[in-house]
Amino acid sequence: MAVKLFVGNYKGGVGKTTSSFYLANEISGLTEKKVLLIDLDPQCSLSEACVRSYNDGMTLYDLDDMETFNYVLDMMGRCNQLGLLPPFDFGKIIKPCKSILGQVDFCPVSLYYKTVPASTARDADMRREEDLDAEIGLDGLTDQMQKDPDKTILYLPQIVRMIEKEYDYEYIFFDCPPSNNILTRSVFLLSDYYLIPYIGDYVSSEGVDHYISTISRIYRTYCIKHPDAYLYRLFFGERPELLGLFECMRSGNRNSRAIFREDYPRFHTVIKSLVAVADSLGMGRTSYNDGGYAQLAIEILEELNKRRFGGTEPELLPAP
Ligand SMILES: Nc1ncnc2c1ncn2[C@@H]1O[C@H](COP(=O)(O)OP(=O)(O)O)[C@@H](O)[C@H]1O
Ligand SMILES: [Mg+2]
Repeated sequence: MAVKLFVGNYKGGVGKTTSSFYLANEISGLTEKKVLLIDLDPQCSLSEACVRSYNDGMTLYDLDDMETFNYVLDMMGRCNQLGLLPPFDFGKIIKPCKSILGQVDFCPVSLYYKTVPASTARDADMRREEDLDAEIGLDGLTDQMQKDPDKTILYLPQIVRMIEKEYDYEYIFFDCPPSNNILTRSVFLLSDYYLIPYIGDYVSSEGVDHYISTISRIYRTYCIKHPDAYLYRLFFGERPELLGLFECMRSGNRNSRAIFREDYPRFHTVIKSLVAVADSLGMGRTSYNDGGYAQLAIEILEELNKRRFGGTEPELLPAP
């Protein structure tokens, strides 16, 4: 079974997507193990970068509907209504990031997915002509799932299990949106660990407390207090552990103004603000001048080793 980690923070623009992409690459490179990236943000920034990495001239528009994670979620709902097991061909959906060093695969979400059979045109140019109202992004799909949350919260762990049966990923990274919906709640429950990137201003540090307590609250709601808590615990396992906070996009010698509770684990490495980091992500690559992600990946792996195999409580790292 893969180690599942999500990268999250309720604040947008703190480096979640950039960190997911860079860390997946660095961790795969360092460990020579396979990593899967799953984009859970309806804005699809990670998917755009990954698709570019897969094929430089390609955009999300060029994906067939059946190649998207939207299709997987859509089919889960529709097959469930009929009591059927959805037949997925993950070989069509999961693709390799080719322009980066490690063995990183991704599961793309799309802004342009049209529910089957609404989209009968397989050709991208023809699909452009179709009714835009039929497009259903991840936000539309999560709205549908929200109608029956006790059931649909189990879709994501079921999908991940199907993937794990076919592929031997060592790590699965989830890039979370800065919001709380049925998919993020599901990923909070199914993950083993999480990482919180922040930028060193006061506001984002306040949001971190709220974020961490929300994750605990959701675990309690489903895995402790719910009448079916026993079943949810079977599916989701233990509550996720905060692996650590790390600061992103620090420019120059500016010091962090972020104030956190003493007991939050924190990584020493601070990711620098570099145009090369942002530009290369846009091209689906990682920059050689990576702002510190290689160093951060080493720290994360050390911490993971300690938690997974050391059996001791992690040391608390001093503030950067
Ligand atoms: N280390 C960095 N240096 C410079 N720009 C960065 C860096 N990390 C992220 N960015 C840019 O900041 C913006 C927000 O980053 P992103 O990773 O998308 O954040 P989030 O996923 O939290 O919304 C993007 O435009 C991205 O290119
Ligand atoms: Mg993002």
